[in-house]
Amino acid sequence: MSLKERDKKHIWHPLTQHKLHPETIGITKASGCILTDENGNKYIDAIASWYTSMYGHCNPQITRQVAEQMQTLDQVVFSGFTHEPAVKLSEALIEILPENQNKIFFSDNGSTSVEIGIKMALQYHFNQGEKRNVLIAFEDGFHGDTFGAMSVSGLSVYNGPFEDFFLKVKRIPTPNGKNHEAILKALETIVSQHKIAGFVYEPLVQGAAAMKMHDVEGLEHILKFCKANQIITVADEVMTGFGKTGRYFASDYMETKPDIICLSKSLTAGLLPMAITSCSQHVYDAFYSDDISKGLFHGHTYSANPLACTAALAGINLLKSEDIQNNIKRIIQSHKQFGAHIKLHPKVESIRQTGIIIALDLNTKMERYGNLRDQLFHFFMKNGVFLRPLGNTIYILAPFVISNEQLQKVYQVIEDALDTL
Ligand SMILES: Cc1ncc(COP(=O)(O)O)c(C=O)c1O
Repeated sequence: MSLKERDKKHIWHPLTQHKLHPETIGITKASGCILTDENGNKYIDAIASWYTSMYGHCNPQITRQVAEQMQTLDQVVFSGFTHEPAVKLSEALIEILPENQNKIFFSDNGSTSVEIGIKMALQYHFNQGEKRNVLIAFEDGFHGDTFGAMSVSGLSVYNGPFEDFFLKVKRIPTPNGKNHEAILKALETIVSQHKIAGFVYEPLVQGAAAMKMHDVEGLEHILKFCKANQIITVADEVMTGFGKTGRYFASDYMETKPDIICLSKSLTAGLLPMAITSCSQHVYDAFYSDDISKGLFHGHTYSANPLACTAALAGINLLKSEDIQNNIKRIIQSHKQFGAHIKLHPKVESIRQTGIIIALDLNTKMERYGNLRDQLFHFFMKNGVFLRPLGNTIYILAPFVISNEQLQKVYQVIEDALDTL
């Protein structure tokens, strides 16, 4: 029996209505930018498996180091113990994170890193005797699937059963270059009516909102406003982190740095699940006390797993390398040329790019998970390219190691799909 047949017996997949979408594709191998299925078909992974495998799948430089680490220390409790991979990773992260970040808190997925960021923001005020119980977030944001993360996500398409249990959140529009005064006005009204603990946001690019991109200056104004009102800023860089915007972090584009940063996905180069919530000394100090209850009582069994830390370290070393930095520049240029060409296509309404992320909106209406979207997905797969259109949008977020030839193939398949629509 094939993998996909055996899968149907016992497996419940994420984000899937199995009655409507009973089919899966059995993947047996991944190498560089190529996924191979159980029938031997090959696909270019043009979304780096949800933005994780940025240095290519099964990158030998990473797998070798993790295999070596496996021989000496596999897993150990991280309360009361520490180890070299975690310490080294904290040092490497602090070196590349925005300059105000100084403490690293470990967990194991993007949603949880946001959950922890929210808890840090709420407890920061609580520890100082101030009850601030409302958060601010962007419209259309996506921060994950745990309760805190769902609460701050504006894109809660299928969250109906849970909404009664959400945290209190006030929403503001995303900065588009024309609306920053309106946003500041809205913020002033919110602050005058509620006790705001924190602002949770995806900086510059909202991934799940179909790569919606923001104005740097507008975001700068919002962050400044938050600082002036002691609102803890929580940058969710789960998607944008580690080079995808053209800089190490999207927060590097703004002068005002976030108090807290959430990281996951390509943190471990796509090898193992891990997440980080980093914060400034100022945030950490609000928890540092003779009073035990002022500590952050949050912890996961696999916190700072040594293998995941080793993968992350290997990934950061690659990110800093000349090769990867040159690749990032090459992909940015290549996307620019493709963008200039494809925006003239009659089916394209608009196009946008930040770093190596490029997105094009079609002028044909599509449901987020509707038929046309499925049709496009199947067209891409049939032609050897793994892309997941979102709503009306086709986006590329390929591994940094994608070759020019592979990129050209991705572009061509997109253009052919538009021609057949
Ligand atoms: C910006 C952002 N935050 C949080 C998450 C949730 O991460 P995870 O799926 O690892 O829980 C995602 C996932 O796509 C994301 O894009």
